[in-house]
Amino acid sequence: MSDDVTATESWHALAAHQPHVFATTLRELFTLDPERGHDLVVQAGDLRIDYSKNRVTRQTLELLLSLAREVGVEDRRDAMFAGEHINTSEDRAVLHTALRLPASASLLVDGENVVADVHRVLDAMGRFTDDIRAGRWLGFTGKPITDVVNIGIGGSDLGPAMVCGALRDFHDGPRTHFVSNVDPADLLATLDAVNPATTLFVVSSKTFTTLETLSNARAARRWLVDALGDDEAVARHFVAVSTNAEAVTGFGIDTSNMFEFWDWVGGRYSVDSAIGLSVMLAIGKAGFDEFLGGFAAIDEHFATAPLERNAPVLLGLLSVWYDNFFDAGNRAVLPYSNDLARFTAYLQQLSMESNGKSVTRDGRPVSCDTGQVWWGEPGTNGQHAFFQLLHQGTRMIPADFIGFAEPFRDVLTENGTSMHDLLIANLLAQTKVLAFGKTAEEVAGEGVAPELVGHKVMPGNRPSTTIFAPKLTPGTLGQLIALYEHQVFVEGAVWDIDSFDQWGVELGKKQALELLDSIAAADPPGPLGDSSTDALVHWYRGQTGR
Ligand code: F6P
Repeated sequence: MSDDVTATESWHALAAHQPHVFATTLRELFTLDPERGHDLVVQAGDLRIDYSKNRVTRQTLELLLSLAREVGVEDRRDAMFAGEHINTSEDRAVLHTALRLPASASLLVDGENVVADVHRVLDAMGRFTDDIRAGRWLGFTGKPITDVVNIGIGGSDLGPAMVCGALRDFHDGPRTHFVSNVDPADLLATLDAVNPATTLFVVSSKTFTTLETLSNARAARRWLVDALGDDEAVARHFVAVSTNAEAVTGFGIDTSNMFEFWDWVGGRYSVDSAIGLSVMLAIGKAGFDEFLGGFAAIDEHFATAPLERNAPVLLGLLSVWYDNFFDAGNRAVLPYSNDLARFTAYLQQLSMESNGKSVTRDGRPVSCDTGQVWWGEPGTNGQHAFFQLLHQGTRMIPADFIGFAEPFRDVLTENGTSMHDLLIANLLAQTKVLAFGKTAEEVAGEGVAPELVGHKVMPGNRPSTTIFAPKLTPGTLGQLIALYEHQVFVEGAVWDIDSFDQWGVELGKKQALELLDSIAAADPPGPLGDSSTDALVHWYRGQTGR
């Protein structure tokens, strides 16, 4: 096996095959292969994934699957599930899949049965959740908790914030709030909305060293102590979620009020660890178990389904196809579900922090593009904003459309039409128009003035994947997240990169601290190394009277 993916036989075969697909339209593909709408569909758990409107032939799929085999995607996957240290640059196992194994399972990693640890923490979270929800855990002044504020950022925020929004209808616990940004506006907006006597702060940070989180947590603690008039109040209003017991103690939170996770859980893969505590508080332990069960169903599918019926494998390979053979560089993720409003933001961290890498696992420069810009907004809002470019712009942007058969609640229009039906009709219409467009002849045939025909032609031939699930529940949400986790994994395995480190964010953090000294110093700072930063710091200091 070559250690350069672009030098493999399958890569060469795909490159030779690409011009044929490039020259063929989706209209032609559906005419030549009328069954593709039935056949190019894969079921993973409750998810029905239709990838027939992608620019692939059955031969393309075979070649992509050969590529996966040739570069050893299956071995990489098995190594991840087995707890090998596949995060090479940090020498760590990557075991978010262990977070959703049943208590009866066992998985030894570095001599420890990690499943026992996982369930010990889940049980502790469950007891704490029950106490809060039942009003047995009281605030310092003896009142039950009505509001939970999660303070965290990145993976310690996006996951629980996205999930709490998505499962709004299952929410029967305290209200949840999320503070992440070091911009004081974020914290203040939340503090203005809650009562210190009935608020619990969950300080969520894997490392417990993150500047934003610790700054917000310290400010929240001052606010609480000022309001309740006693340092002792902290113990009834602050809990921590972290891997770093020492730093949690240093902050002043007793480790008996700490929920632990482990260095083999990456931040962007942590919503199903104790980082999901605010989710559990909102929907209860049983709902959280159902959420974990959703992940587990897709883990099982990913680990066992043959590659040609393996949804994460197929979707990951489609990404590679578009990224490396069509130069697509980005992907729109478009949930037709308002409750999934934060899903794309969540996936941005998952995908872009995982696969935005320029060196292979052994540190050599990569020989092809990696990663994509993921972006999107819920439908139908996006249709009235950026879909114009998707339909008639010069770029090809592969898109994922996500929809649910049954809403939690529906509303009927005045003439009795289900608004949910309207939503799904829009989803289907968009995928159809993107794929098949409208030709100049068809436009002219509608009597459009000749000078307008060019403006109204819809080029079509724009790929999309449709992911349908019966209903947005904790279980299907867990399935959706795991589907994306594993396809990001497959992309990274093909590109031979370390999808589990994030060194690229470190330098900015360090420079911010250095610049803080320059911005806040009493005396003007010396040269900062470049004339732009010098001038910007000078301007900022001037504006703020320094
Ligand atoms: O800055 C990137 C990052 O390290 C993410 O990977 C992580 O999810 C986030 O910061 C927060 O880190 P922590 O949970 O350690 O506060």
